[in-house]
Amino acid sequence: MFHLSTALPSREDILKAVEQYGYVPIEPPVGIDLFAEIERLKREKNAVLLAHYYQDADIQDIADFIGDSLGLSQKAAETDADIIVFAGVHFMAETAKILNPTKKVLIPDLNAGCSLSDSCPPEAFAAFKAKYPDHKVVSYINTSAAIKAMSDVIVTSSNAVPIVQALPKEWKLIFAPDKNLGMYVMRKTGREMILWDGVCMVHTIFSYQKVRAMRAQYPDAELIAHPECEPAILEEADFIGSTTALLNYVTRSPKRRFIVATESGILHQMRKAAPDKELIQAPAEYSCNCNTCPHMKLNTLEKIYNALLYEAPEVTLSPELIRAARLPIERMLEMSRELGLVSKG
Ligand code: 13P
Ligand code: SF4
Repeated sequence: MFHLSTALPSREDILKAVEQYGYVPIEPPVGIDLFAEIERLKREKNAVLLAHYYQDADIQDIADFIGDSLGLSQKAAETDADIIVFAGVHFMAETAKILNPTKKVLIPDLNAGCSLSDSCPPEAFAAFKAKYPDHKVVSYINTSAAIKAMSDVIVTSSNAVPIVQALPKEWKLIFAPDKNLGMYVMRKTGREMILWDGVCMVHTIFSYQKVRAMRAQYPDAELIAHPECEPAILEEADFIGSTTALLNYVTRSPKRRFIVATESGILHQMRKAAPDKELIQAPAEYSCNCNTCPHMKLNTLEKIYNALLYEAPEVTLSPELIRAARLPIERMLEMSRELGLVSKG
């Protein structure tokens, strides 16, 4: 993983290495306390570290704010830090940059993409959208800036249902890119939408048969699921919600045992908030660790330390793209405020 010598690399060497590897490939000095060093760098540089719940536990523990996609974008919109380090995936860091064009936004590893976002390439989506010229576009935040720029309003898993419900009834809608979330929103709102055919590789890995067998084994357990899961799992679920909503549900529910159908990183906060509850990961189709998002897990404490120290990799976008992608994100933030939807991490 580490390829560059620590002996004072030039700025040019660092940028070249980032271009080649997607992160700063320098091994931090042996024996340093990464937690203390990251804290020191954050203070010295007036930097804030935002982390998604799907990050490894050590990253969650050192973050200034942990949240779901809505909470993180609300936090990014209001920060007065000079530097934002985004421990999440690329579309999240891009969203932070779009909301803060004059700030430096760093991502520990540029390779941290998202299978769902990748399932919706801009050229193909432009052609799809052109087939429905009288439709407005509602896009899930898990999309590239280019897709956001083609959208009328952005949603997250926390606010998709109330936002779609609040859109003018005469609007015909396209929903992209997650078809499972799209179907869930259609069911909850009763609104027809044209769906882009995309899914998340992590949330579609759960096995309906194995989940049913697990429920038979633990009849007292509640099944809780993220709306990116397949319809069969959602129909079976006792509660459906965004990462923050699932965390809050476990904390508040009088039940003691939960089968959790989402990415495994959230279990860390659930265990912290409700140490007396038993959390069982929903079983995947294959014997694998596939309810772990491989993109999210590319970030490490070492890469965060390097990102802060060398101020790279940086997320950059053209001013035109920022301008176009900002409007639908701001519409989401404004509608969320009006609807009283504040996602607290
Ligand atoms: P939320 O953060 O809205 O729960 O979405 C989960 C997710 O898959 C992020 O990529
Ligand atoms: Fe993308 Fe799914 Fe990973 Fe979220 S969990 S970042 S939607 S691949």
